[in-house]
Amino acid sequence: MSNNISSILQENRNFFPSKKFKKQANITEQIYQQMLLKAEKNNVGFWADLAKEKLTWAKDFTVDLDDSKAPFYRWFTDGKLNASYNCIDRHLTDKSDKLAIIFEHDDGKVDQYTYKELHDEVCRFANALTTQGIEKGDRVIIYMPMIPQAIFAMQACARVGAIHSVVFAGFSSASLRDRIESAGAKMIITTNVSIRGGKTILVKKSVDEALEGGGNSVCKVIVYARTDYKIAMQDKRDIYWHDVVAGMSNYHDAVMVESEHPLFLLYTSGSTGKPKGVQHSTGGYLLNAHLTNEWVFDLKDDDVFWCTADVGWITGHTYVVYGPLSMGATIVIFEGVPTYPSAGRFWEICQNHAVSVFYTAPTAIRALMKFGDNLPKQYDLSKLRLLGTVGEPINPEAWIWYYKVIGNESCPIVDTWWQTETGAVMIAPLPGITTMKPGSCTKPLPGIDAKIVDEKGNVLDNGEGGILVIEKPWPSMIRNVWGDEQRYIDAYFKQFANKYYVVGDSAHIDAEGNFWILGRIDDVLNVSGHRLGTMEIESALVSHQLVAEAAVVGKPHEIKGESVFAFVVLNIDIPSGEKREILMQDLKKHVAKEIGAIAKPDEIRIGINLPKTRSGKIMRRLLRTIAKGEEITTDTSTLEDESILKQLQKTPETF
Ligand code: WT7
Repeated sequence: MSNNISSILQENRNFFPSKKFKKQANITEQIYQQMLLKAEKNNVGFWADLAKEKLTWAKDFTVDLDDSKAPFYRWFTDGKLNASYNCIDRHLTDKSDKLAIIFEHDDGKVDQYTYKELHDEVCRFANALTTQGIEKGDRVIIYMPMIPQAIFAMQACARVGAIHSVVFAGFSSASLRDRIESAGAKMIITTNVSIRGGKTILVKKSVDEALEGGGNSVCKVIVYARTDYKIAMQDKRDIYWHDVVAGMSNYHDAVMVESEHPLFLLYTSGSTGKPKGVQHSTGGYLLNAHLTNEWVFDLKDDDVFWCTADVGWITGHTYVVYGPLSMGATIVIFEGVPTYPSAGRFWEICQNHAVSVFYTAPTAIRALMKFGDNLPKQYDLSKLRLLGTVGEPINPEAWIWYYKVIGNESCPIVDTWWQTETGAVMIAPLPGITTMKPGSCTKPLPGIDAKIVDEKGNVLDNGEGGILVIEKPWPSMIRNVWGDEQRYIDAYFKQFANKYYVVGDSAHIDAEGNFWILGRIDDVLNVSGHRLGTMEIESALVSHQLVAEAAVVGKPHEIKGESVFAFVVLNIDIPSGEKREILMQDLKKHVAKEIGAIAKPDEIRIGINLPKTRSGKIMRRLLRTIAKGEEITTDTSTLEDESILKQLQKTPETF
């Protein structure tokens, strides 16, 4: 980045929360001002008081924050608690018969679980985990579709003090293998198959492939039979869920763990080839998960909250599982896809389950917008009272559509900025207070010390753009990159010598102090709200026997936000015609196999070389321009061989 970044987006429309919403909001203007004041005076004390008030501790803490080994911060250090106890047991006195989970199957069938039933399922499975040899601190991989058993498994791990790592079931066996290895997982919990959009997907088969050849840490694979589809079971290693829970008691004494005990690892893409195991704590994570559901989603006892994210992502952890359950809320989960059996499926679910708070990604909104205004209008969406978005900047056009057509101009929209590493929402409107601006995530939440700085780390004034950082530590922040302290420092703190947590996004702050996220500054793409490392995709391409070199960039995409555009150099002569087409398809398939369908390049361009500086650095800036089909007008003088650009600009048809 040469100069400070300026925003290209011009959006001046303001939207205000209605009187009706303001009146009932959890956070009123008065509470907000008090919180700001308190956080300003004593940030650590602000969080510590909330931790005492909102969470149930088995042993109270006396140390609020231990920063003696900064940037390895430790919150509420000598306290003990259990996340599952906080999500379930403490609600049983008054909410035992309240619905915890409404589960809609792909085919429309519905199952419901009360808090008492959730408790019993989780306890039985926790007892099964112990019987199968799982102990506090063991890593357990959960590779499952969006079904209640995925939540039971997460909660049961938390109950026994095991560290879960949910791997999105859309990831390939190769990605799964990397994560098993990095986490040193002792167990995998999976399903025989998953059902999505009427199709049966072979989930256990990927687990088998990932474990092929042995030599890994996995001792047991527990398989939930989603359907009666028969699969191969390996003797001694594989056991069915229904067999392990048979005869198990519905009583389980939750294991109280230290506040800093890791609750889970979640792998996310970084700018190098290897995904990072983001390590979260128990106490600090749970606090911000709880608070943001109360503050930003304004959850009330009678709300029905549907966050459409899969538990394979952080959004599913914080806004499907830990946050809403810690508040004793009713959640909806859905196994299928938005467009099956019709593009009205989301709205039908909102109608049928009287969803009042709905949280999804801009990519889904844009995709559903395409089907027009009349489709959602066929459903009764009158129970909706709050809408949310996450994952990438939402374009004002999609924001307005969401506001008018889905929210009937009466629901505030919370555009929530956060990351896998932050654990919970950091910058977002408070729905009863904040003036909303389409495309802006508005202001940092109380206690969150977000700033925009220049390359030297100087804090910039309103009206300027630069690097987004968080100065003060906050309870739900990442604790470590699993097993790699140096990478934790390098990735998040080194740039400004531990002064700030560096987010990796650039942002602009307007005259009124609203934040506008501009995008990633590291080599990371954002495809449909999910982070993909360019290096990861490049490594996958290079692992194909015909590929010598690869460079991947993001290309703006109408629905997905960004699409994957790959440039490759082959170690054979460039084939032509049908042969080239076959190779292109093969390369796409190869990436899907290595990483998952989400990383599949939309376009691949074959070149005789890549544009490099004399020192050998690939000039991605130029590749991004080529991917967009634009003329290169910027400086190319550092290029080793300028003729490369001309060749790469040629589409296959003109080859
Ligand atoms: C990156 C984090 C947090 C859950 C989903 C993604 C981008 C996220 C917004 C938003 C603009 C956003 C950022 C961020 N991002 N939310 N509301 N407006 N950009 O989690 O995979 O950890 O990705 O997503 O670039 O750094 P993730």
